[in-house]
Amino acid sequence: MRLDHTSDLWWKNAVIYCLDVETFLDSDGDGVGDFQGLIRQIDYLAGLGVTCLWLMPFYPSPNRDDGYDVTDYYGVDPRLGTLGEFVELVRTANDRGIKVIVDLVVNHTSDEHPWFKAARADRSSPFRSWYVWRDEPAEEPRGISFPDKETSNWEREDGSGQYYLHRFYRFQPDLNIANPAVRDEIARIVGFWLQMGVAGFRMDAVPFLLETEGIAEGVEDDPHHFLRDLRAFATRRRGETMLLGEVNTDLKALARFFGDEDGDQLNVQFGFLLNQNLWLSLAREHAEPLEQVIRSLPAAPPDNTWATFLRNHDELSLDKLTESQRKEVFAAFGRRKDMQLYGHGLRRRTAAMLGGDGPRLRMAWSLMLSLPGTPVIFMGDEIGMGENLAIPDRMSVRVPMQWSDSRNGGFSSAPAKELVRPMRAGRFGPKAVNVAAQRRDDDSLLNFLERLIRRRKETPEFGWGSSELIETAAPQLFAHRCEWQGSTVAAVHNLSGRKAHATLDLGVQAGDKVAIDDLLERREHRPNRDGTLEVELAGYGYLWLRIRRGGERAVS
Ligand code: NOJ
Repeated sequence: MRLDHTSDLWWKNAVIYCLDVETFLDSDGDGVGDFQGLIRQIDYLAGLGVTCLWLMPFYPSPNRDDGYDVTDYYGVDPRLGTLGEFVELVRTANDRGIKVIVDLVVNHTSDEHPWFKAARADRSSPFRSWYVWRDEPAEEPRGISFPDKETSNWEREDGSGQYYLHRFYRFQPDLNIANPAVRDEIARIVGFWLQMGVAGFRMDAVPFLLETEGIAEGVEDDPHHFLRDLRAFATRRRGETMLLGEVNTDLKALARFFGDEDGDQLNVQFGFLLNQNLWLSLAREHAEPLEQVIRSLPAAPPDNTWATFLRNHDELSLDKLTESQRKEVFAAFGRRKDMQLYGHGLRRRTAAMLGGDGPRLRMAWSLMLSLPGTPVIFMGDEIGMGENLAIPDRMSVRVPMQWSDSRNGGFSSAPAKELVRPMRAGRFGPKAVNVAAQRRDDDSLLNFLERLIRRRKETPEFGWGSSELIETAAPQLFAHRCEWQGSTVAAVHNLSGRKAHATLDLGVQAGDKVAIDDLLERREHRPNRDGTLEVELAGYGYLWLRIRRGGERAVS
């Protein structure tokens, strides 16, 4: 195994940590997290072992969609800090071996962005064609993102009587990427942040960004050419740039977002289908949904990959499952109506859904961190924080970080009513779940994850290798094998609370001289004469194994 190869396409062995500066740590007591607070905690993140921070939007914004409604793509929300502090953060993170990527939200702007203000004020403004207009609302594009708040993707603009397209809330008018001036501006934004030192972008709502269905004049150029050109531009400006796209769309369309054959569009896509079926498998305690989706996903081109995650900052969307599958997940993890959202999602966090810290939660982390792809962790999940259902809709999961059991969980010294978002109380509140206590407890979830992340980084076969499912006779076991440059690892996860036994095919021939290292615990494993291995797993047990061939040396 040539470890030096892993530094080249860094995203294939990265561990990404998603955080919102606003809710991470408030350094000046105004109730809002800020860049100084984040800088102060950079060694916490380095200690956890993450290698890349994804910063949720921190740009100037009226914050009607938590910053996903941008009014200036070249600035920093003054509540959070300054551009100077942003650069200091990047520099400090880089010094600790951590890259920084930022959210690129260019499917739409805020309706308070100066471009939209100019566009709506005057039909002859050059900015008018930066947005998508029609005389009458169209049927297309279909599907409403926030059906609790919107009934159409078209909103009447009173001055002109025309309608503009908004794929999300009505205060988020869609940009028109068929317009070359808009494409140029998006490239300029990308160029700007690369110059500020970022290593890439988490691209918001990519299928909607590329969608041109509602454009009355029609569009000749394939919108995927735009994505390809943007990637080429970004890579020219900074070779290591990663584009990590939010693509929650149908199976058939996914491959195109990597770029048909040569992977020249998104380097990484979030595996939403994988995620939805992972939760179905967890709900059923049965490996089949996860196995089935892995078999059906298009293979990522060699330099590209999937991003894996348990939960993100939005609702747990189950929109690609069938109605009855969705009901199973609701029944297992969010029975109550107030836990559900839009009829297809759950506004809950990982630890709360899996019953708090315990074997099941740890198994889920082990599973996620060993799946082929690049793991992404949502802030606070490393200590098992829960949601606050008193906060409306998706924001219930975006609670402030719980640093200690002191006032406001150590997040801020401001009076509680001035906090950007209320802390939660009770079983998952800061009294019970916080960083300070878990730092001092060797057996805490935090320390468990720190060790697991270390092992994940030392096991690049998972991120780089070809992967194969291992069939077993036990339906509750999910087992797979990853092979890279002659090195093989295997992982087995018992999705159920019942003990399970299996005979694993490790891809070893009878008579091959092999040794098997347990990567997580002190356990001996001896293969059978035919090269298979008997394993027994406790309820929610798991194993990571490396198969050493021909007298290869064990490392640690
Ligand atoms: C996807 C983001 O994850 C979500 O939080 C946001 O509301 C929409 N895109 C609109 O930007």
